[in-house]
Order: sequence, then structure tokens, then C-alpha cells
Amino acid sequence: MRPLRIESALKLSISEVDGQHQELVNLLEQTQQVLDQDLPRVRLIRILDQFNELNIRHFATEELLMQEAGYPEFEAHKRMHDALIEKTFSFDATSLIDDESAGRELVALMREWLLSHMAEDREMGRYLKQNLLV
Ligand SMILES: [Fe+2]
Ligand SMILES: [Fe+2]
Repeated sequence: MRPLRIESALKLSISEVDGQHQELVNLLEQTQQVLDQDLPRVRLIRILDQFNELNIRHFATEELLMQEAGYPEFEAHKRMHDALIEKTFSFDATSLIDDESAGRELVALMREWLLSHMAEDREMGRYLKQNLLV
């Protein structure tokens, strides 16, 4: 699978948010590495934990910025965050140990998660830049 790059179109030019997106992309790369190099699969559980922890922190960051800026689509954007949290938190971590295909499913889920989330953030990013000193 092609590595996921945060192209300029997906950068919001808000350093805290872009930095967290990059950290999430790094975790996707680490997941792919475990599979490609046949590393101990228990590492996938640790990466999934980190991904989930970072999601919580990342969404809290964005939600705070949206509230500070008075973003009119706050509720809709937050609902999208809640749905994304549900997706990765409901992934069966124990399947990563015994099920060959679970690692690939996790990579696909993280990739889809990141691409859809970062695309959805663009409109929010434009509003934050116009309405906050970030
Ligand atoms: Fe985001
Ligand atoms: Fe977001």
C-alpha cells in the first residue's frame, strides 16, 4: 500500500492540529511496518491503543479551538468525531494476535479514518484561521 502523505491540500497551517495529524499518520506507518517486516503482532495492540489515546487528545484540541472561534458547524463536526472514535474503539484488539487478516483490516481502517477526517477538517481549518490567532 502506498504510504500516506499529508499533502499540502490536507495541511491546515495550524501547527498543533497539523502536528497531531502527522503523529496519527506516523502510527499508521508503524502499523504497516509491523506487517511488512513481520514484527511481533502484539505491537499492533500497543499502536492501536496509542492511536485511540491520540484521537481523544486530538479531537479535544479541535473541539476547544472550534468553541473558541465560535465555529457554526461545531455540533456536526463533533458528531463526526464521535462516530470516528466509535470506529477505532470498537476494533477487536485481541484479533490482532491470532487473525492474519486483522492487521490488514486495521491498516485499512486507520488509512480511511485519516483521509476522511483530514478532508473534513479543511473547512474547519479555514474558519479557525480567519477567526482565531493560531
Ligand atoms: Fe483533525
Ligand atoms: Fe476534526
